[in-house]
Amino acid sequence: MLSYARDPERSLLEATIWSTFSPVTTTFFYTPERIMVLARKMHSIPFKSLIFRRAALLLSALVGAALVTVCTAGEPDTPSARLGTFDIEAHRGGRALRPENTLQSFANALSMGVDTLELDMGVTKDGIVVVSHERGLNPDLARGPDGHYLPPPGIPYVKLTLNEVKQYDVGQIRPGSAYAARFPDQVAIPGTRVPTLAEVFALVRRSGDRHVRLNIETKIDPNHPDESPDPQQFVTVVLTLLNREHFADRVMIQSFDWRTLQLVQKQAPAIPTVYLSEQHEDDPNVFAAKSSPWTAGFDPQKYGGSVPRAIKAAGGKIWSPDFADVDAQAIREAHQLGLPVVVWTVNRPEDMARLIDMGVDGIISDRPDLLRTAAAQKGLPLPRGYPVSP
Ligand code: G3P
Ligand code: CA
Repeated sequence: MLSYARDPERSLLEATIWSTFSPVTTTFFYTPERIMVLARKMHSIPFKSLIFRRAALLLSALVGAALVTVCTAGEPDTPSARLGTFDIEAHRGGRALRPENTLQSFANALSMGVDTLELDMGVTKDGIVVVSHERGLNPDLARGPDGHYLPPPGIPYVKLTLNEVKQYDVGQIRPGSAYAARFPDQVAIPGTRVPTLAEVFALVRRSGDRHVRLNIETKIDPNHPDESPDPQQFVTVVLTLLNREHFADRVMIQSFDWRTLQLVQKQAPAIPTVYLSEQHEDDPNVFAAKSSPWTAGFDPQKYGGSVPRAIKAAGGKIWSPDFADVDAQAIREAHQLGLPVVVWTVNRPEDMARLIDMGVDGIISDRPDLLRTAAAQKGLPLPRGYPVSP
């Protein structure tokens, strides 16, 4: 694992190498802003000799030249997708700290400093992209104007207008529920509404954070086609919004439903697609030895049982597995295929440390505060915070 904080010269060298040999991952993870930060760090340290300074200038020039390559190159196959920087992602904005998938949680994450805001998307009856983990209002989260939580099973967004969705308060997990017991430290903020994705973009703009990216998930289930738009409609509405808001170059699109990712790749090939996989929990979406409705035909059984090989064949850019499903060998295989690995959802510091040592390229966590600490302990660079209110 690279140690940028301690060794900025080496970091800039790595950035230069990556810029030259891996334009795709470089464009995404070595943004010009990050390279500038590395360059600034390098110039601010006391060099022992003039030769060092000259070497630094030469490297800076090489980075500039490599960036031109990045902007003009096509998409090569890379020998390894090992990323030069580590991705700190706030899962649902950091659900252990603030109400999930709300402007409150995203403002909290932006204020502390993360690389990526992870969030989930649904689409309302009137075609608005809202931010929510379930395909509808969640009975454990949504309280109506009468102050009562919705009875199960909730209401799908495709049956509600945005105006109707906005009547519900999602600022406090239903007290006494099993879900509330999982997040005892979440600060309740009554009055919080389900945000639209456009409102999240506005918050990011207002924060002034030009570094942060958004990992946005299409919440769609092939087994419940009546609870969301079909894959093409879903992708169209999301891509239209991204273009209108000029956010297409700041997102990755993730999904367990690889059908939507296939459509994104065809219609917006510059947007990195993140293939989510779940192999061993209650509700797997991929299987080593049988086909699945989630995989758009890219079932691992056709690729020697290998999930990363299936994702590579599908044209995915990043593999995002349940962290319990990976080991060092699987991560190595993904890297050899040119796939970075970003695991979810890791909330214990000891797991974070172990996975960083194992070589993952990013971690998605409900506790971005603990993840920052774990990353710092490994010598990884920390994104600065951009204090903002929701
Ligand atoms: O981004 C990965 C993670 O969010 C997938 O799990 O169920 O929290 O959306 P889930
Ligand atoms: Ca998610």
